Amino acid sequence: MEAAGNPFADPGLPPHEHRQQDIDERAARRSERTIALLFTVSMLATVAFIASYVAFPVDRIIYVFPLGHISALNFSLGLTLGIALFTIGAGAVHWARTLMSDVEVADERHPIEAAPEVKAKVLEDFAAGAAESGFGRRKLARNTLFGALTLVPLAGLVLLRDLGPLPQDKLRHTKWGKGKRLMNYNTMLALRPEDIAVGSLTFAMPEGMKESDHDFQTQIAKAALMLVRLQPENIKDKRELDWSHDGIVAFSKICTHVGCPINLYEQQTHHVLCPCHQSTFDLSDGGRVIFGPAGHALPQLRIGVNKDGYLEAKGDFAEPVGPAFWERG
Ligand code: FES
Repeated sequence: MEAAGNPFADPGLPPHEHRQQDIDERAARRSERTIALLFTVSMLATVAFIASYVAFPVDRIIYVFPLGHISALNFSLGLTLGIALFTIGAGAVHWARTLMSDVEVADERHPIEAAPEVKAKVLEDFAAGAAESGFGRRKLARNTLFGALTLVPLAGLVLLRDLGPLPQDKLRHTKWGKGKRLMNYNTMLALRPEDIAVGSLTFAMPEGMKESDHDFQTQIAKAALMLVRLQPENIKDKRELDWSHDGIVAFSKICTHVGCPINLYEQQTHHVLCPCHQSTFDLSDGGRVIFGPAGHALPQLRIGVNKDGYLEAKGDFAEPVGPAFWERG
């Protein structure tokens, strides 16, 4: 129907207007150089990002107007990465607006399943579009884009350095060692066998640790120990009996589920209970798990008595203490 008689008639596409770059090769080359400049700036900004990461100490503060006093490292990382990403985007937009074809194409609606000849046409159009975009011809713009896109992920790679240093074998050891006396956690006095009464639960830590130590919390979280005295004939596990002294057994206080400190002791059954998720361990049977989500027995510390009559460790724990690390140990 004629447009004059039908207010909903399709007005069609406006006539295509050529841009300066379409008709003037010198203007097109200027655009290409601008694009290349933007991608080059991106590459330089990525290099600056990496250099900032290495050069600025974490605690360096600088004054930047109007932001005030801020971390030099954060400011430089944010600025350089922002420039690297922005210039890639700006270059791509400029390329699309000035050099790639801007001819509008109208396509009739058609069934979802395209006919073979349509698919062939699409491939043909795609090839033509790729040729028109200048991706193959504009080698300077294309290569600098590849360079920028290759470099920008390096910004993320260098941040992986923050995951280090590797723990080496630190997770395998605690402050316990051969000859270390067992100190009462509350009185800080060295323990003798006669200090451990049947039915009591005593907490201990290794000789030589002080609450004022900078890593005290880290170390006590691995070395915390609990002592109970059983009748030797009630100890069911042979290794547990060998590693005990006169019925006194020493186990890690750190739950093997997710690491809560164990605090509850049932005298009659010799069970200890973790308050977090109710894992229950049998201290008369090698610290075996008898209930709850913990997956492993409590590590036992081998103990004895030194020549002065004090309880001492015969070495470190034989297994890693606490949760999860077991599977990787
Ligand atoms: S941490 Fe002990 S049961 Fe979950």
